[in-house]
Amino acid sequence: MLDYVSEKVQDESRQGEAFAPFANDPQVYKKKFYIESYGCQMNFADSEIVAAILNETGFGATRNAEEADLVLLNTCSIREKAEQTVRNRLTTFKQIKDARPGMLIGVLGCMAERLKSKFLEEEKLVDMVVGPDAYRTLPGLIEEAETGQKAVNVLLSREETYADISPVRLDSNGVTAFVSIMRGCNNMCAFCVVPFTRGRERSRDAESIVRECTDLFNNGYKEVTLLGQNVDSYYFVDEANDETITFAKLLEKVALISPLLRVRFSTSHPKDITDDVLYTMAKYENICKYIHLPVQSGSTRILQLMNRTYTREWYMAKVDRIREIMPDCGISSDIIAGFCTETEEDHADTLGMMDYAKYDMSYMFFYSERPGTLAARRYKDDVPEAVKKRRLQEIVEKQNKLSQESYRKDVGNTYKVLIEGNSKKSDKDWMGRNSQNKVVVFPKGDHQLNKGDYVMVTVHSSTQATLLGTITN
Ligand code: SAH
Ligand code: SF4
Ligand code: F3S
Repeated sequence: MLDYVSEKVQDESRQGEAFAPFANDPQVYKKKFYIESYGCQMNFADSEIVAAILNETGFGATRNAEEADLVLLNTCSIREKAEQTVRNRLTTFKQIKDARPGMLIGVLGCMAERLKSKFLEEEKLVDMVVGPDAYRTLPGLIEEAETGQKAVNVLLSREETYADISPVRLDSNGVTAFVSIMRGCNNMCAFCVVPFTRGRERSRDAESIVRECTDLFNNGYKEVTLLGQNVDSYYFVDEANDETITFAKLLEKVALISPLLRVRFSTSHPKDITDDVLYTMAKYENICKYIHLPVQSGSTRILQLMNRTYTREWYMAKVDRIREIMPDCGISSDIIAGFCTETEEDHADTLGMMDYAKYDMSYMFFYSERPGTLAARRYKDDVPEAVKKRRLQEIVEKQNKLSQESYRKDVGNTYKVLIEGNSKKSDKDWMGRNSQNKVVVFPKGDHQLNKGDYVMVTVHSSTQATLLGTITN
């Protein structure tokens, strides 16, 4: 089914993945928790904060839900399908709980926030409902649930950034890590549920971000991805040093930790990414030349309805500016097919925009109405499902061609690649990424290399999503 194709592209391979055990010492951890995460990278980063809080509370992680005392689902509400996936998982957990009556089941994240205590009415087996700003209260909520009461905390906060909590890296490759730099979102894109599930935007203390990245580097990590729904509106006033820190400034601070630490970020809103950010990227070799710049639609009329606050021309000018300042910069996008009132002409504008921006990659969806959003309240979801799917199919096909071209153009080039681990297909090959975020696979040969090393690789061929190459000296 088409929706599946698209979700699979978007939601990467980590969806629903259980985390590896990181502590099994029964002296330290009297109980076990199991966590599954869905949705965006921020949700995965949050699960690592939850793990830190649970460790403190005497819970160690397990990869096996059947032996867990506490099963947690960190959920996503972005599209209806995301929520359906979670409901299906809960059905599976019901069987496990039937065999283990003492086991607690908790729902965390955006779906918990959206549905609040309604969740407990709808899904009888759920014991705890905890919103994204309430994770510090987990120990108390668990205690409450252990006495047989249902426990709920879905309060959103204007301040919470979990700045002081050191995330416990779960299922990590030891090379790349996500670091949250802000929470929430103040934009009101008409289709989007995030402002309702994550609350107001707030930026995390810059010093705590730099400290976390430095610790990661000192522990062997070589790449950090700074995360936020809208990283370009990062803004922090360091009163002690009388310093105002914008996103460009923060990028620089993280880049200066070490030239050997790569810096990435996600996501940029086209209206907020500044020349300052682009020049900072250009200035530091270790800031990766890759920008995820979601367009959503190529039609100015639809963009206005979506409340994206830029026009087709503004977006094109942004792409031009990026290419002017960094000719080698990779650009990717998010695209929604079949938003309310979208005509064939609007759709053609989206396809045209894709040709213009020549995206290396895109996450593509058809519009899914979310209760409570601006669009749900104001507009009719009037594009028939079959039309949405056909348009999405055309967008996917267009992107496939663009990706193929983009990857083929790299053949013959030599890139600095950060090795992340064995290739999926063979442990005789390494897998890594170049600065542009493209996956590069190459034979290990006789070179004495390890994951976390940088190596120069010359590309000899490509597929739609992988560059194949050989090590060059
Ligand atoms: N903060 C990011 C996006 C976060 S959500 C940004 O502003 O770009 C990730 C993507 O999901 C969005 O970019 C959008 O393309 C898609 N999305 C969000 N709400 C959606 C909906 N109701 N239906 C379909 N796709 C949606
Ligand atoms: Fe949603 Fe728009 Fe905020 Fe992104 S910027 S999270 S799409 S409201
Ligand atoms: Fe989903 Fe919430 Fe992220 S709705 S995309 S998990 S912010």
